[in-house]
Amino acid sequence: MTEKLPIAVLISGYGTNLQAIINAAKSPDYPAKIALVISNKADAYGLKRAEAAGIPHKVISHKDYSSREEFDAALDAEITASGAKLVCLAGFMRLMSAWFVNKWQDRLMNIHPSLLPSFKGTHAHEAAIAAGVKFSGCTVHFVRAEMDEGPIIIQAAVPVLDSDNAASLNDKVLAQECVIYPEAIKRFAQGRLKIEGNRVFCN
Ligand code: GRF
Repeated sequence: MTEKLPIAVLISGYGTNLQAIINAAKSPDYPAKIALVISNKADAYGLKRAEAAGIPHKVISHKDYSSREEFDAALDAEITASGAKLVCLAGFMRLMSAWFVNKWQDRLMNIHPSLLPSFKGTHAHEAAIAAGVKFSGCTVHFVRAEMDEGPIIIQAAVPVLDSDNAASLNDKVLAQECVIYPEAIKRFAQGRLKIEGNRVFCN
């Protein structure tokens, strides 16, 4: 087994996706390991998940910095010091500055609870229900400066039933998020992803 690729996971809340990555990384042949978890919220339950898993974790609060760039520079310093070669935003509720996105271009992933480019933004499930779509889902993508933009790595679709509401759709989508995020990281760690323009090819 070659050396596992160290990654940093950034969170703000419950850490469902973080836990899925922790679980996947327990497998000896999973090609990545979590070197650092950072939350911008001290009360993020995901920090308890990192602690329980014995993973180094820190709180870096955006409130302690006077600008997005200064906050991002603090994030970058810790991430770089951890040796992480990939940054995974997992329920991280802050928009990254163009500076950070450029520095980590194509080594910075995010997961969004819709089939991008549909339903960008913070109320994806409500928007999908209101639009009457028959399928929704989730997307792992490389981050670009514009919110919820960037080359798509993996998607998973779930049916939207007449009986669904935002909460039931969230549950179905979240279950799929926990499948595709670890897989996207695995493919990156195996060097199987190739970006051409706005498309990601996996071999
Ligand atoms: C998830 O729906 C994810 O798609 C979005 O943040 C939500 C919460 O994620 N980015 P988690 O439970 O903190 O992983």
